[in-house]
Amino acid sequence: MLKGKKVYIRPLEVEDSKDMAVFQRDNRAFFEKFSMERGDEFYSEDTQRSRIKDFHEEMLKDDGYYFGIFKQEDDQLAGTINLFQVLRGSLQGAFVGYFIDQKHNGHGFATEAVELIVEYAFKELQLHRIEAGVMPRNIASIRVLEKAGFHKEGIARKNVKINGKWEDHQMLALINPEDE
Ligand SMILES: CC(C)(COP(=O)(O)OP(=O)(O)OC[C@H]1O[C@@H](n2cnc3c(N)ncnc32)[C@H](O)[C@@H]1OP(=O)(O)O)[C@@H](O)C(=O)NCCC(=O)NCCS
Repeated sequence: MLKGKKVYIRPLEVEDSKDMAVFQRDNRAFFEKFSMERGDEFYSEDTQRSRIKDFHEEMLKDDGYYFGIFKQEDDQLAGTINLFQVLRGSLQGAFVGYFIDQKHNGHGFATEAVELIVEYAFKELQLHRIEAGVMPRNIASIRVLEKAGFHKEGIARKNVKINGKWEDHQMLALINPEDE
């Protein structure tokens, strides 16, 4: 568990499947504006349980790390954050992605969670570089990353398909200050 001031993050467990299904269902329309469209089956507790099992496989293989973001005050699931596409060898990098329950937006939860996962990535995983791709109109997400110390890099043109349309990504990155 990695503790911040308002939230903590810890790897998702199968016991979180029900809360994950509720979280995904409550935020379906909000999240689909920024990520891929999902079929109805994605929102079942069974699908969420099997996703969490897959996350554990990925963590064992050092391919990706998947955390829930929990409120300090009541231990309720408020979001998810993950490191994916972990690359070793001469790159030592990964991408970060995150989602905060719409009803908990605007309290600094995403910024805190990004800071916590960055610390984990640099100190525990010894990664060198964390990247993120954000649609240029997703001002809140760009702000989150900049508050956490990321700098803007280039635009990856037509990088991601959202609601059937290829969208550009503003790329941002953070380099491990202990490993420059
Ligand atoms: C983006 C997201 C993670 C932000 O979560 P959050 O917990 O509300 O973020 P924080 O409170 O830590 O910070 C948000 C910042 O953006 C600012 N912001 C929010 N909406 C804004 C807007 N429309 N214009 C300008 N700034 C905005 C907030 O004021 C805050 O900055 P501040 O602290 O300087 O005031 C959340 O909205 C979300 O889950 N969105 C859908 C999924 C998503 O986009 N994921 C990221 C994909 S790259």
